[in-house]
Amino acid sequence: MLSHAINRFIDRQRWLEPVADFLQKAVGGFYKLLGAPGHGLKTFIHGTWLGHPLHPVITDIPLGAWTLAVLFDIIYLFNQRQGWSSAADVTILIGIVAALGAAVTGYTDWNETVDRERRVGIAHGLINTVVLVVYLVSWLIRLTGGSRGLAIVLAFIGYALVICAAYLGGEMVFSIGTGVNHHAWQPVPEKFTKVLLEGRMTEGMLVKAMAGDTPILLFKKGDTVCAISETCSHAGGPLSEGELLGNLVQCPWHASRFDICTGQVRGGPATISQVRYETRIQNGQIEVRRSEDTLQPN
Ligand code: FES
Repeated sequence: MLSHAINRFIDRQRWLEPVADFLQKAVGGFYKLLGAPGHGLKTFIHGTWLGHPLHPVITDIPLGAWTLAVLFDIIYLFNQRQGWSSAADVTILIGIVAALGAAVTGYTDWNETVDRERRVGIAHGLINTVVLVVYLVSWLIRLTGGSRGLAIVLAFIGYALVICAAYLGGEMVFSIGTGVNHHAWQPVPEKFTKVLLEGRMTEGMLVKAMAGDTPILLFKKGDTVCAISETCSHAGGPLSEGELLGNLVQCPWHASRFDICTGQVRGGPATISQVRYETRIQNGQIEVRRSEDTLQPN
């Protein structure tokens, strides 16, 4: 099977590991260097403001632009009219500009990955980086009036490579689950369900309870008990082991932040909010059910 062969090939590329180590240090170090504004910038680039990862939104633009460029170049090869070559030049430039955005968002998202998703992700990123360079050279040749034939051949090579890279991007999402909402398959109680004895709660502490098979994060503040889903929407981190920062809980895995009472995502890499639960106390038992105003789509 093609997918299996590709994965085995990537697994055999041991040189990817030191490259990935270096790039993760460089990307992570860059945002760290900027301090608090760096965290805000990183959250923006992940797409937390959009409620959806930004990277896959941007990647459609270069793919669309470069597909048009291939068509325009082919038409030009047949009729040699300058209008078609100019159209190819413009669409290649649009693709290059959008690909820069895709690279920034992609490397930022990839920085939080580990193991196989990190390996496939670095292969995806490196191929796309080569694609960007190839298209840049093709565009510079076109701009400076160099060999149009060479520029077209380079664009065709770039297009073949970007399709390979897109395949790997799909592999990350559909096979490995990178960037997928980690609540998507968790049952969410719609009716009040007992989760914990009230007496086992301590004021100001993060407590994990279970509603059937679904982990719930409880937090007691005065007379109020707040409840949100315990599994981090980003990659499944256990929020009950996270850190409390005022009204926010910070995930122990990649430091996404959520409002402890509403579940609203307030800091990336997560882009999707936690499920918010209504709570009530009946006969000394805390009960929860999905809140109507939850921001989580599940
Ligand atoms: S699992 Fe990545 S931030 Fe929570």
